Amino acid sequence: MVLVIFVILTLVTYVSALDACPKCGSMEVPYPLSTDDNCGVPRYRVICNNDILQFESTVGFHYKILSINPSVNKFVISPPLIPKNTCYASDLSLGGLKLDDNSPFNISTHNTVMLFNCTENILLSPLNCSSNSLCRHFEEKVEEGSGCRGTLCCHFLKDSAMTQHRIRVRVGGCTAYTSVVDMKSGDDIDDGTMALSCNGCLPTKFENLCFLYMFVCV
Ligand SMILES: *[C@@H]1O[C@H](CO)[C@@H](O)[C@H](O)[C@H]1NC(C)=O
Ligand SMILES: *[C@@H]1O[C@H](CO)[C@@H](O)[C@H](O)[C@H]1NC(C)=O
Ligand SMILES: *[C@@H]1O[C@H](CO)[C@@H](O)[C@H](O)[C@H]1NC(C)=O
Repeated sequence: MVLVIFVILTLVTYVSALDACPKCGSMEVPYPLSTDDNCGVPRYRVICNNDILQFESTVGFHYKILSINPSVNKFVISPPLIPKNTCYASDLSLGGLKLDDNSPFNISTHNTVMLFNCTENILLSPLNCSSNSLCRHFEEKVEEGSGCRGTLCCHFLKDSAMTQHRIRVRVGGCTAYTSVVDMKSGDDIDDGTMALSCNGCLPTKFENLCFLYMFVCV
């Protein structure tokens, strides 16, 4: 009897832990992403704020989630706005985008990151700050970048050699940034998009179920 109850309890716990969260507005929230404690896996927390799905950085800034592709462990967020007539990222006071080192999320390698209004020190870095850097195209072609025209700007491809948990902006460094996912040479530059990878977001539901059956069989 006790054993049966134990098995049933375990079953219930497993089943509830397996649930995907309800849609947020029109957007699916695939497992294991979690909008509250009753669905998904808490470690994969995202925020559903007035029907808009958002990603929260370690320092508490919310970035809008534009799309999710669970089959490749990736989702795309909107970089922080650069308010009109300024060259400040809206997360500047928080130092830019910062993810916890232990977070399952990281900044994916498909991002071309652009930094704006940098101080001369940036020229000591290996970033591309030339007059044909992609950041120049963003300033000229995208309305949002117009406040940054004429400032020192640079771009780089986010690769594994650099920290995958941070894009830093600060007063006295660079004060704004944006990013474009999967930029190919010759592409027209568009509004900012940034890809995040999610370690373990591939659907694990099936594996867990197998484990559950095994457990019941034993
Ligand atoms: C660029 O950054 C400096 C501080 O580093 C700031 O004083 C200045 O207002 C910024 N420029 C623009 C256009 O926002
Ligand atoms: C900088 O980027 C531009 C645009 O992608 C490219 O044409 C140029 O060769 C790059 N310059 C350097 C020094 O890498
Ligand atoms: C970032 O996430 C991807 C996808 O899960 C993973 O392959 C990669 O190793 C991660 N990188 C770091 C530095 O954690």
